Amino acid sequence: MTEPTQIQITTAERITTLRFDRPDKKNAITIDMYAALRDGLEAAAGDPAVRAVVIAGSRACFTAGNDIPDFLRAAQGGSQVTAPLDFLRTLATFEKPIVAAVAGVAIGIGTTLLLHCDLVYAAPNARFKVPFVDLGLVPEAGSSVLLPALVGARRAAQLLLLGEQLDAQTALAWGLVNGVADDPDAAARAAAVRLAGCAPTALRATKALTRRTTRDAVLEAMRVEGEAFAERLRSPEAMEALQAFMARRPADFSRF
Ligand code: COA
Repeated sequence: MTEPTQIQITTAERITTLRFDRPDKKNAITIDMYAALRDGLEAAAGDPAVRAVVIAGSRACFTAGNDIPDFLRAAQGGSQVTAPLDFLRTLATFEKPIVAAVAGVAIGIGTTLLLHCDLVYAAPNARFKVPFVDLGLVPEAGSSVLLPALVGARRAAQLLLLGEQLDAQTALAWGLVNGVADDPDAAARAAAVRLAGCAPTALRATKALTRRTTRDAVLEAMRVEGEAFAERLRSPEAMEALQAFMARRPADFSRF
């Protein structure tokens, strides 16, 4: 079972907040945490009193992405990685507005989940990185289409092929975030409070309209990416990268 503290879920003033809370592992997301996130979203979707959702981490860290030992277990055991996909599909089809507050690192799914949020506020110390290739993997969460659409193909290549890290100001300049704020939690909260005061049906309809032409393409991208991701996860390249992380050494891809 998920430790109750690893994903904090609170609802107040018509806003549900999902907060990563696994500080000793940089908020890396385990299978149980994905399930808790999905359950939290589903509960928020089903509660008419909830008008908006905030996703946040701590002041030090948003999330270092998927739990690497979980990846390694899936790679070694050949098991399907379904929990992240379940969460991502719930996120991608969520009808109410979602606001994210990012401080510290947002790595892998920590960045790609933001592509499904409506508004994102970053602390000056925020850092964004999608190092899938570094791990012998491929993009997920629809990021193979959403990221080029958001920042342009050239910049997406810097992120997805080179695995470059973005700081908060560059993320703002590239349109990955709405604002940089010393207190991104407060900025996200203020936006969520405004959203919670809006006409709820008009708000949901507006969100649906803005995603009308891309929604199916994104879900299809997630399906295709998921197949490629599962195949890469079982590859010797991924095994080398994941074992290198665990051993705290650089990966060596020279033999491939
Ligand atoms: N999964 C599991 N554990 C992780 C993790 C992850 N994705 N990221 C960090 N951790 C753990 C580390 O293993 C370490 O645990 P330990 O203290 O028991 O050894 C702890 O969190 C602190 O990480 P550390 O690397 O010592 O901190 P740092 O400040 O030097 O670096 C990061 C922080 C996030 C930059 C670095 O840990 C990192 O690159 N993590 C991997 C990110 C990643 O590739 N995610 C997957 C994307 S698909």
